[in-house]
Amino acid sequence: MGVKAFANSNDRTVWVTGASSGIGRATAIEFAKRGAHVVLTARSQSKLEEVAAHIRSLGRNAWVLPVDLARTTPTPSMLAELPAIDILIANAGDYFPTTAQDVSAERYMALMQLNFGGMLRCIEAVLPSMLQRRCGVICGVASVVGYRGVPRASIYGASKAAMINFLESLRFDLEPNGIQVTIVSPGFVETPLTAKNTFPMPFMIKSEDAARRLCDGLLAGRREVHFPYRMSYLCKLMRILPFPIYHAISRRMTKGDEK
Ligand SMILES: NC(=O)c1ccc[n+]([C@@H]2O[C@H](COP(=O)([O-])OP(=O)(O)OC[C@H]3O[C@@H](n4cnc5c(N)ncnc54)[C@H](OP(=O)(O)O)[C@@H]3O)[C@@H](O)[C@H]2O)c1
Repeated sequence: MGVKAFANSNDRTVWVTGASSGIGRATAIEFAKRGAHVVLTARSQSKLEEVAAHIRSLGRNAWVLPVDLARTTPTPSMLAELPAIDILIANAGDYFPTTAQDVSAERYMALMQLNFGGMLRCIEAVLPSMLQRRCGVICGVASVVGYRGVPRASIYGASKAAMINFLESLRFDLEPNGIQVTIVSPGFVETPLTAKNTFPMPFMIKSEDAARRLCDGLLAGRREVHFPYRMSYLCKLMRILPFPIYHAISRRMTKGDEK
């Protein structure tokens, strides 16, 4: 447990990226149910408006801030009309499977620009104010795939490993300044992103369940939140297993989806 920025999220302002669907949408609604006001970011304004209407029906404020985070850093003027951000949930991301035949620096770097760069852009936008107030939470939604390389996730896994390593390093500077850093590493969660997968996805959970676990862990001040345990502890174990065993298990888990 590190620094615990907030006892609860009541009347806090939470900025959720990737809030138009899946884990981000569920997390935005979960925070609103826990009394927070929510800033919603993704590219699709119409989907964000729908989430905002839902949050307002719960009696909380919601602001829609459409940004393409793969390309654009939210500027101070974009955030000027909003309350100061207390909690950043850097969640926007995408996934595509990779093979040795389709390596493309341009396409792969575009995913890095979103998954890693998108988080970085939002941190740049909120950190000066958090440092000034000596309070706040930076939360990145990474993945258990970031723990160790797995088949067909070369650039996705690399982007998530980059998030984890970056946040672990940043935490050394931020905790002495009263700012909590929470890394979230989900296993499989049922969302439009995983609907694309053709391989078996063990221990998959609903996005609402993921959102509850994320909020519980973050508000408990945890440095790391991972779930579901059967999947995340298996992946943690893989991190310390000798290479031949880890290689055999990883192959087995993605059997049937190999090219
Ligand atoms: N589902 C899982 O099993 C799982 C497991 C581990 C980690 N994760 C991570 O959890 C996060 C959310 O994933 P999900 O499963 O909820 O996926 P999802 O339902 O596809 O949601 C992705 C979100 O990111 C937004 N987004 C995509 N490109 C964007 C861009 N260029 N700029 C701004 N926003 C963008 C999407 O909205 P627009 O299309 O409207 O922009 C959407 O709101 C991702 O970082 C993912 O890597 C997911």
